[in-house]
Formats: sequence, structure tokens, C-alpha cells
Amino acid sequence: MKHRGVLIAGNWKMNHGPAETERFFSALAAQFPGGRVPSIEGLQACILPPALSLQAALIHGAQVGVQIGAQNVHWEKSGAFTGEISSPMLKDAGATWVILGHSERRQLFGETDEGVARKVTAAIAAGLRPIACVGETLEEREVGMTLEVVERQVRAVLAPLAKQPGFGAIAYEPIWAIGTGKVASPADAQEVHAMIRGLLEGQSEELAEATRILYGGSVKGDNAEGLLSQDDIDGALVGGASLDAAGFSKIAAAAEKLATMAAAAAGLAERAEQG
Ligand code: PGA
Repeated sequence: MKHRGVLIAGNWKMNHGPAETERFFSALAAQFPGGRVPSIEGLQACILPPALSLQAALIHGAQVGVQIGAQNVHWEKSGAFTGEISSPMLKDAGATWVILGHSERRQLFGETDEGVARKVTAAIAAGLRPIACVGETLEEREVGMTLEVVERQVRAVLAPLAKQPGFGAIAYEPIWAIGTGKVASPADAQEVHAMIRGLLEGQSEELAEATRILYGGSVKGDNAEGLLSQDDIDGALVGGASLDAAGFSKIAAAAEKLATMAAAAAGLAERAEQG
């Protein structure tokens, strides 16, 4: 078991209203014996629906053992910001997590590193757990700028994340892998995750130890195990495959299998140590 625990988070983007949300969770319950996502120590599943579906997701997600989160927040607590939602509101509504700085928000809505850092700060202050998203475009990868771009994006959120080590997470999502079916190879993803771990370590050892780094970009049931078995991949941020209960449950099942194997190995090691 990765001592940081594994988080499987489903980013629904602008999909699934309240009625569809209820149907999703009934279908998800039917995927697991006992009607709940297996509660193995350190394994957590989470769904991030559109804000309008939060209430339905909270009610039905709780029954299946799934935490709920949001896809964005404003950096202020309240005020004249038409169309926006704040961290304290989401916390009050019962949300646990929030994704911040997703590449679609950066590319389509002009979000900047500074803006994302302000949002991460606001979320943590409100007790909402941020998942800060980073990742390079295809052009940046092709000219060898991946590590540079990701480093810049991660550095922007290091200070707020360090305020409460392990409370927030980072998601590495290469933009060319999002919604394209082109997943990063486990080795390529691990290379970037290790670099991110190093940056966290530069801030503090505790931050590096405690922070979950998720991989996102075309994660599916059949590639999840290879990715999640990498040393520095502590979970997945799943888009398309999280929209359907069977797809999401296959990824959770892969994480459960790895967690069970790791717990068994840790148990054996402990027994061997005790003689
Ligand atoms: P995808 O999306 O799994 O559909 O590639 C991932 C994401 O955008 O978070």
C-alpha cells in the first residue's frame, strides 16, 4: 500500500445533471458486492460532478462510499462575482475535494498560474481539499519543454500546499492525453511524477511524503493498473471513463487489487521481521 493512500477521482466536466447523477450512483452500487466501493485502508474514490449535481451526488455518493467534490471555485469567499461559487459555500454544501487549474480552465477560460495559486489558498483556508492540475501541451512535449512547463505550474502552488502537507493533491495531466485515448506510458508518467515529487521535497520532506500525485489523461480500466503501480503515481484523475459506472468501477477495482496485494506484502514483511 502506498503510505499516502490512493485516490481515484472522476471529473465529470459538463456532464450528468441531477437525475443522471442518481442513475450513475445506483449503477455504481450494483458494480460492487455490498453496494459500496471497497473500503480498503488508504483507497478513496471521489466524483466531481457539475455544481448543479452536487447535492444529488452527495446524497447518493455517501451510500456508495464515494466522496464528492467540485471542478472549480472563485478565490474570494463571497461578493459581487456573478456566476461564481466560493470554497466556503462548497464546504458548507458537503464537498470534500475541488479540482483547480484543470487544463480546460487554463486553455478555455484563461486561468493563470497565479489565479490557480489563489484558488488553492482559498480552498485550503475553507477546509476544501484542492487537486491542483498541471500538464504540458503536445507542442511543449515535442520541443522537450515538458519538465519546464510542469515545474513552473507546480512551483506556483507549492507554498499554499505546504501550509497543510498532504491535505491537497496534484494531478499531472498531459494535455495531449486528455480525452484522446492516447495515454502516457507508465514510464513517461512516472518520470514527470518523480520530478514533481522532487519539487515537493525541495519545499519540505513532509510535503513530498504526504502529497498524492495523481495521473490523468485517458485513464481506463485496462491501463489503470500499469499506471497506478508506478512508485510516484498515487491515484488517477479520470474524465471520460468516470462517466459510466462500469468504467469507473473497473479503475477502482484495479486500485483495490494493488492495495490488497501491497497490504498482503506488508503483512508478510512484518511477520518475517517478527521472526
Ligand atoms: P480523460 O480526461 O480521462 O477523458 O482523458 C481526464 C481529465 O480531463 O481530467
